[in-house]
Amino acid sequence: MEIIGILGAGAMGSGIAQVAASCGHEVVVCDNLTPALSKAGKRIQATLKTLVEKGKMTDGDAYSLFSRIRFTDHTSDFRDCTLVIEAIVEDIEQKQIAFKSIEAIVGPETIIASNTSSLSVSAMGAQMQHPERIMGIHFFNPAPLMRLVEIIPALQTEARFVEKARKLINCWGKTTVIAKDTPGFIVNRVARPYYGEALRMLDEGIADAATIDWAMRDLGGFRMGPFELMDFIGNDINYTVTETVFTSFYYDPRYKPSFTQKRLVDAHYFGQKTGRGFYDYREGAVKPEPTKDQALGKQILTRILCMLINEAADALYLRIATRDDIDLAMTQGVNYPKGLLAWADDLGIENIVSQLDWLHAEYCDDRYRCCRLLRIMAREKRTFY
Ligand SMILES: NC(=O)c1ccc[n+]([C@@H]2O[C@H](COP(=O)([O-])OP(=O)(O)OC[C@H]3O[C@@H](n4cnc5c(N)ncnc54)[C@H](O)[C@@H]3O)[C@@H](O)[C@H]2O)c1
Repeated sequence: MEIIGILGAGAMGSGIAQVAASCGHEVVVCDNLTPALSKAGKRIQATLKTLVEKGKMTDGDAYSLFSRIRFTDHTSDFRDCTLVIEAIVEDIEQKQIAFKSIEAIVGPETIIASNTSSLSVSAMGAQMQHPERIMGIHFFNPAPLMRLVEIIPALQTEARFVEKARKLINCWGKTTVIAKDTPGFIVNRVARPYYGEALRMLDEGIADAATIDWAMRDLGGFRMGPFELMDFIGNDINYTVTETVFTSFYYDPRYKPSFTQKRLVDAHYFGQKTGRGFYDYREGAVKPEPTKDQALGKQILTRILCMLINEAADALYLRIATRDDIDLAMTQGVNYPKGLLAWADDLGIENIVSQLDWLHAEYCDDRYRCCRLLRIMAREKRTFY
């Protein structure tokens, strides 16, 4: 079995280590902070204990899985690794330094990958001697539970390394999709309107958070409404992703963050983890009731859905990923009830174009500009599938 290296023993590093070890690999987890290593060990052991208690794993299996993971503060222990995944802080300079030091230790055929959510993988490769084996391998949180993994070849990456990595991660029981090295890759880009358009409607007073959540959940079939989901993810994290995508896309109004969410972050109303967010999670707090008005609910669902589909179509048009990978990414990465491009076919592409054109004309805002691909397809009466 190949030996897998993980740099950074935080939430993501420890999760990825568990995934690799559960597939029989020896795993070397390295962190420059000793307390982070012991915390990671305890975190993995706690997860394994829960799995044993739930009957999903035997005591013996949990023991041998954990014994395959070695914790170290020396990157030199990556020497025999065939794949090293970096999961340190989201900082390009620190990642570049880390890549250079890993490259000095491992062999030329070792794949060196980053779990970055937002940084340019090509920029990470710029400082390397052999950037042809660098790529993004983006797991979602929590790594052992989330099936989707986005693989992001850098400009410098050779196809054979991408194939090798994809094969390996597929063997770990994950669903892999290939994304172009652009901000947000697939999921963090295409999902932006789920939050952004819901926030815009809240700001305009079209409906309250509970009603928008009800519409998306009960009428749309989404597992969680946008506000419940932002509170669950953490408004601090969700806001930062939006802001990063917005600035990375040269301030495209489609990704404009919301002051409403920014104020929650300012007040440390991060959501469930701090007891307050869009909703109040403190003991005794009563959850507000939605206004279950079918016509209003349909209007909310249609507006958010059309914006999501526009984003998915644009990702396809700009060749960020294939049709199938875009739909897979959204159903498996963020549990959407249906792929957005398949959903577009069901709704009717002409219908979506006219909804977007109406919003664009009404608001005189580029945020609502319709993707050219949708316009062409409507004209030619084509469907995605
Ligand atoms: N948390 C998420 O939901 C999530 C999801 C997908 C991707 N990511 C990405 O994964 C990466 C890690 O995120 P996280 O949430 O696990 O972070 P984290 O803060 O939980 O852990 C980072 C770990 O890296 C260690 N570290 C920092 N600099 C180091 C260095 N130079 N050498 C060795 N160790 C170092 C820290 O001590 C810490 O233990 C980031 O790039 C992040 O953007 C995070």
